[in-house]
Amino acid sequence: MEFKSLADFQRLESVTLPLSDKKRLIQYHDFFQTPKANDVIRRQHSNHVDKVLGFRLRYIEEMLIAEARGFDPDGSHETWGPSLHRGVQTWVGLDLQTLQTPYSEILRILHLLKIKPYHHVVDLGAAYGRMGVVIGGLLIKNFFTGFEYVKSRVDEGNRVFQELGLNRCQLIAQDLFAKDFELPEADVYFIYDYGQVEHIDHTLKQISAVASKRPVKVVARGTFTKRIIADHHPWLELKYEGKLEEFFSIYTAYIN
Ligand SMILES: C[S@@+](CC[C@H](N)C(=O)[O-])C[C@H]1O[C@@H](n2cnc3c(N)ncnc32)[C@H](O)[C@@H]1O
Repeated sequence: MEFKSLADFQRLESVTLPLSDKKRLIQYHDFFQTPKANDVIRRQHSNHVDKVLGFRLRYIEEMLIAEARGFDPDGSHETWGPSLHRGVQTWVGLDLQTLQTPYSEILRILHLLKIKPYHHVVDLGAAYGRMGVVIGGLLIKNFFTGFEYVKSRVDEGNRVFQELGLNRCQLIAQDLFAKDFELPEADVYFIYDYGQVEHIDHTLKQISAVASKRPVKVVARGTFTKRIIADHHPWLELKYEGKLEEFFSIYTAYIN
């Protein structure tokens, strides 16, 4: 199997693949690699991968937009999420390839993290759980949990995980800012600008409590989260700073 150009992915998308082929595809590193390292191709590649794997993203997002328009007819992706989800910024109406991290960037992040067997990765605000698909396919001794507010995204992600037999991966419907939410201990936490400043700050404080018991790594994607860390969380040590089109940074912490 060759994954050298977008046309290779287009070809895969144009046929109905048996499930056994999909299960095999996610075990190939190059299936998740963009054919060219630029942002446009990276997003197009991710769009093809979503379609090959059978994610029903457009349908679900359009249902959310239709529901949101009922409350907020003149709104946009800035306002529809909060109108529909009690003030929580769920980014309803945002372009799907902006909502989620490209597969090839997830691949790069996982490579840099040098994850050890049995390590647990938690995505805080996981949308459809793309990171779970990459971990489930390539890192067969690791575990993935994604927390996500929007139930229909969670259900679709879990449907795809189940279909692909990724039983070490799960999505959980959860408001990360809920008073009774206890952050589980994990080795890696991934945050891509999931909510407002106070939400991300609250989550980082929860991670610092975990880091007082064990070493943790934190991957922050998006300018928002990186700025909050720089301004208010000096306990996180910057280990890798993404440059150019790498929109993430990696930190470590073990507070003794
Ligand atoms: C920018 S997306 C990132 C998705 C995924 N982490 C990725 O990088 O591909 C952020 C997600 O966080 C979710 N979110 C926002 N506020 C949340 C909250 N309070 N609790 C749980 N999820 C939340 C949104 O619904 C959205 O799906």
